Amino acid sequence: MCGIIGYVGSRNACEVIVRALERLEYRGYDSAGIAVVNEKLEVSKVVGRVEKLKSRKFEGTIGVGHTRWSTHGKPSIENAHPHVSCDGKIAVVHNGIIENYLELKEELKTHSFKSETDTEVIAHLIEENYSGNLKEAVLKAIKKLVGAYALCVVHESKPDEIIAVRSGSPLALGIGVGENFVASDVSAFIEHTKKTVYLNERELAVVKKNGVELFDSEGKKKQLAIVEVNWDLEQAQKSGFKHFMLKEIFEQPRTVEETSKIKINAELKADKIFITACGTASYAGLVGKYVIERLARVPTEWVLASEFRYSNPIVGRKDLLVVISQSGETADTLAALRLAKEKGARTLAIVNVVDSTIAREADDVVYTRAGLEIGVASTKAFTSQLVALYKIAEKMSGKKMDLSGIPKAIEKILAKDKEITEIARKYFKVYNFLFLGRDVNYPIALEGALKMKEISYIHAEGYAAGEMKHGPIALVTDEVPTVAIAVNDEVKTKIISNIQEIKARNGKIIAIATEGDTEIKKHANEVIYVPKTDALLTPLLTVIPLQLLAYHTAELRECDIDKPRNLAKSVTVE
Ligand code: G6P
Repeated sequence: MCGIIGYVGSRNACEVIVRALERLEYRGYDSAGIAVVNEKLEVSKVVGRVEKLKSRKFEGTIGVGHTRWSTHGKPSIENAHPHVSCDGKIAVVHNGIIENYLELKEELKTHSFKSETDTEVIAHLIEENYSGNLKEAVLKAIKKLVGAYALCVVHESKPDEIIAVRSGSPLALGIGVGENFVASDVSAFIEHTKKTVYLNERELAVVKKNGVELFDSEGKKKQLAIVEVNWDLEQAQKSGFKHFMLKEIFEQPRTVEETSKIKINAELKADKIFITACGTASYAGLVGKYVIERLARVPTEWVLASEFRYSNPIVGRKDLLVVISQSGETADTLAALRLAKEKGARTLAIVNVVDSTIAREADDVVYTRAGLEIGVASTKAFTSQLVALYKIAEKMSGKKMDLSGIPKAIEKILAKDKEITEIARKYFKVYNFLFLGRDVNYPIALEGALKMKEISYIHAEGYAAGEMKHGPIALVTDEVPTVAIAVNDEVKTKIISNIQEIKARNGKIIAIATEGDTEIKKHANEVIYVPKTDALLTPLLTVIPLQLLAYHTAELRECDIDKPRNLAKSVTVE
């Protein structure tokens, strides 16, 4: 994780870099730092948010910056990037993990290390190999690195160039007029330029004020492939909403409609399908398993990417692996994709970020078109992933899903925002929440619990309602509310029984039910109604009140909603 940025041009580099770091903070936010070359190399670091760097005023028009999500070493000034060489002339910012850093540290015994990080070895390794040519020194240094890295490097004696190189972690160049940028993602420089070059694995760029040159890892020159990104600064702003998460929740009528327009051209014939992903995307995948099996009757296995990659999976030429990822960069998801390819399976990626690594490496890609998602807790990307999975199931089965009423139905639920805030007000002080669902709404119970814990820090468990009596019911007291998804479907009577079991033990129930169901009021303390739709499509609706409930609970608890503690949006480490 971590966000990195490099700038070279005519403006004050410090100001440009700090603004860019604020946009990259979703990648990590426990410490930050900047290095600017202005005759001498000047470095400043802070523990905490990028905001604190605003008071640092450096002159100079070239520099690099970093916002950190700690892996090796706690958040501290010493461990914050940029890391510098012994002579204080080389500064490095890094996103990734260097697995052999202890070995390298041993080899670099004569150097003096100041931090506990893996990154610092890179600065010393470059110093060790430097004899006047920074590009050559970086090329030599990366040969020794095992692990994942995206790097920006500057040298005090080279006040006109940034060396940028990647392997395993993402890096994009922003091509401006009389200025150029390097960053972990385009949101960092979108306000300055839409012209982008996505670096491929093991490519190195020499970035100067008036031009960029691209090389392979042997130093051979390559052609630049410039693309124009199709979104703008407005998407990177809150547009009057208090948080990006709330803005993104309210965008869903539009994003779902947009995703509904996609055409699936991918090759979908397979004996067996594997669906794999991490976090929220994985729960979209679990809905996909139910839907594909129900409609297309193709055996579909759902497995978390972090488990898939080490399970020696029985996957081969006749199988299709579907990976789902908002960012297209999640390390475990990418590793699962590569493993399945190696074993001969066809791969299909459902991805939001265009041209991301997963999108580029999969045999086929379906873009979810949800637009830029900034809130760390994923919302609109999730519903778009669901729509993409419905479209895939449609294509596989030849059966039609009527998605046309969904955007309006979501709008109707969003109009209950105040009602949901009042429910949040009643329960926001509890220590535990249970979320129950069955069938296609079982993954929604998992997602509801995940949303609640990640942003409000209330412990929440999502469970298949039928499993309630095998353990979680022991937790039920009048202080543990249960959110039960009890919409009109084949399993509704079953879930009503589960609700009654909880009521009998003094548990409080917040039910998500179908409009017109007045009976449910007898069983539940609170009811949030969603419009009637096809039972298989209900996840697109039932998740909305759960997103809002988590949001308002977190807001009442005064949590940092867009940047929850210890989390990051793009998880590019294992
Ligand atoms: C992180 C984010 C989640 C996201 C997950 C998978 O944990 O905080 O919101 O669901 O990564 O990310 P991806 O980009 O692969 O969908």
